[in-house]
Amino acid sequence: MAKELNFTCSACGTSFGKWSGQCDACKEWNTITQSTALASGPKGKSLGAMRGKTIPLTDLDTQEKEPPRTYSGVGELDRVLGGGLVKASALLVGGDPGIGKSTLLLQAAARFARNGLKVIYISGEESNAQVQMRARRLGLEKSPVMLASETNLRDILTTLEAEKPDLAIIDSIQTMWADNVDSAPGSVSQVRSSAHELTSFAKRNGMAVVMVGHVTKDGSIAGPRVVEHMVDTVLYFQGERGHQYRILRAVKNRFGPADEIGVFEMTGKGLVEVKNPSALFLSERGKPAPGSVVFCGIEGSRPMLCEIQALVAPSPHSQPRRSVVGWDSGRLAMILAVLESRCGVPFTGLDVYLNVAGGLRISEPAADLAVAAALVSAREDAALPAEAVIFGEISLSGALRPVVQTENRLKEAQKLGFTTAIVPQQAKQPAVAGLQMRHADDLAGFVEDVFGAR
Ligand code: TYD
Ligand code: MG
Repeated sequence: MAKELNFTCSACGTSFGKWSGQCDACKEWNTITQSTALASGPKGKSLGAMRGKTIPLTDLDTQEKEPPRTYSGVGELDRVLGGGLVKASALLVGGDPGIGKSTLLLQAAARFARNGLKVIYISGEESNAQVQMRARRLGLEKSPVMLASETNLRDILTTLEAEKPDLAIIDSIQTMWADNVDSAPGSVSQVRSSAHELTSFAKRNGMAVVMVGHVTKDGSIAGPRVVEHMVDTVLYFQGERGHQYRILRAVKNRFGPADEIGVFEMTGKGLVEVKNPSALFLSERGKPAPGSVVFCGIEGSRPMLCEIQALVAPSPHSQPRRSVVGWDSGRLAMILAVLESRCGVPFTGLDVYLNVAGGLRISEPAADLAVAAALVSAREDAALPAEAVIFGEISLSGALRPVVQTENRLKEAQKLGFTTAIVPQQAKQPAVAGLQMRHADDLAGFVEDVFGAR
């Protein structure tokens, strides 16, 4: 008989046959707990022995029309949703505690209510008075949103069935308690079955449900990862401590593109959408300084400019430090190796710090060339021209490869007042009026061109 996988990691949701101290998948410690079985049905009978009902089958040539969508009117939110909220869908909004999930969803609830949806907001964490206080702070106290403070899932589902809202917001899934599951709220089994009940209720009743999930490091509470597979759309709300802006990122979306982002700023009166994120991320940039380079990345469907900063200093340690914020450390090691072996720019005995300003996280290899430029600029103590934007992928041979959406990136740079672009050579280079292009074939040529013969 196959071993039952009833031990689950509360951080990443991976299931195991036995308990262990560290999760093999996500390497978190003390996150694996035993989950009780969800299945309730006649026990002791194999599925093959008892007959169920036949299910209707259909063909691939879809007869159903596009599901109706409602726009919130907040461009940044609608884009991340893939073009508005879809009827009868389930969404998960994950994020660290205190990042602004409740604020975002209360503001969204008010918008959707104003656009004609019947919206119910259920808070399992805060009292009605607390939510009302937040609504007053946001100037939304007159919005037609219905409110309740409750954690009992059975009562919530009964209420939703009677009220028939178009949208229900559940804040948060970790506080919900399904009385048919024999474990504490926040445990893997409770979170899973609550999310499952809510999702299937939403599908059956043509309601959209948004569930809030706190990202937790503590094994006693299940994180949002354990329900990601059940829902149609997974959004993460992210931000950096000490920064006012927040990024809403779609990591999964059955109704639109994943990887789309929306940028907001947390103000004293709630979240305000940022229509021009490039300007925001570059706004703190001072005069041209060694180690500072402007990169144009693609986030979802949009180009976005940001600053990459590097600092290189003699190391007092036998093993110099390599410290990265906002980029992949393996990729940094690779670029340092290419600079050293293909361009003769060694970093031995030097500490290297790399930072993507504003707390952004970049995962594109298109940033390679900008990172290399920042590293060499810091090492040589030579600033790059302030009005230049740099991007391109570096291969291990030191050759430069053109990147996708070059034209969009160039246009964004031109729009924000940049006059020079340094990019890899490519067969058909797009030209953007007002932008002077400098090309490089390989990294050695680039270093020589920009920093002079060495
Ligand atoms: P909240 O939405 O409660 O976070 P979450 O639900 O993700 O735990 O937001 C909490 C933070 O946001 C809190 O530190 C206060 C701040 N905040 C503002 O700065 N401006 C506002 O208008 C509101 C409502 C909150
Ligand atoms: Mg909250």
